[in-house]
Amino acid sequence: MSPRILSYGKRALASALLAGAVYVAPSDRVTNIFEPLSTPADLVYRAALLALAVCAVIFVTVTVLLIYAIVRYRHRPGDDASEPPQIYGSNQIELAWTVLPILIVVVLILVTARTIADVEDYPQPTDALKVTAVGRQWWWEFRYPDLGIVTANELHVPVSESGRRQITSLTLESADVIHSFWVPQLAGKTDLIPNRVNRMWIEPKQAGAYLGNCAEYCGTQHAKMRLRVIAHPPEEFASWVASQRRPAAEDPQASAGRAIFFSTSCINCHAIHGTSAKGTFGPDLTHLMSRQTLGSGAAPNTPEKLRAWVRNPQAIKEGCLMPDMQLSDQELDQIVAYLLTLK
Ligand code: CUA
Repeated sequence: MSPRILSYGKRALASALLAGAVYVAPSDRVTNIFEPLSTPADLVYRAALLALAVCAVIFVTVTVLLIYAIVRYRHRPGDDASEPPQIYGSNQIELAWTVLPILIVVVLILVTARTIADVEDYPQPTDALKVTAVGRQWWWEFRYPDLGIVTANELHVPVSESGRRQITSLTLESADVIHSFWVPQLAGKTDLIPNRVNRMWIEPKQAGAYLGNCAEYCGTQHAKMRLRVIAHPPEEFASWVASQRRPAAEDPQASAGRAIFFSTSCINCHAIHGTSAKGTFGPDLTHLMSRQTLGSGAAPNTPEKLRAWVRNPQAIKEGCLMPDMQLSDQELDQIVAYLLTLK
């Protein structure tokens, strides 16, 4: 093999291994469809249990019959070499193995269709929190049209309590290719399709961070298109909303970094509320430091990782649209100092 192909192979292997290296915080919940914590996920879970039970019954029946046939009709010493009686055509047996599977499939279709209808037609209360999620290569934009908030990758919602149900109603759009919104404990997958609007809803019943991932292959960094849904108790959610609605903090200590930010092409792609930065290609940075991760879960949002990200995002998330800005070490320090003030 030529060295070039070898090195390509190694790179492909390295990026395949790295692709799994996304950041998971210790407090993050598991991604498990068997532990639903939201009404739509629960409805899907019940339908899945029925399908699994039917499959289990079929599996056990077939296996038992197979083992029985193997043991009962195996070759024994003394059997003569001639073949057993050959039977051709049995209307009863053929009818049984045609009708029974059809019945099973019809039942599964009906249950599935009913679950889909239950989830899709579920009455949305007027006080549902409305969020528009936009899938982008490779990150999530979350807009709260009624609250005037724009954020990225981490969807903050109120938790639903028995006395006070809180549904979050999601409008799904895509800015480029097809993505899919999937947080296993909250709901089934729904695709985000260019030039089409899809809808789904979630109702987290416990506070905490729910993990998810883009579930439709959308390019080389599809695996690093993580989703975090953070469900807050009502007062906590209200204070998150209040802090996100504030314009960006102005810290005179970080004026050097601010000047660099506004004189380079950063502002072509990023918006900072309350300033002249109004770019829309990249994540809104107004409250960057309120987020747990960088690059949609590619790395924890620590000052060191933030510096590494600004220095060369391609080293952390190869192929992402943010270029290496070729900043000097001093400029890097100053710009990171400014970004750290965006709380
Ligand atoms: Cu977005 Cu896969």
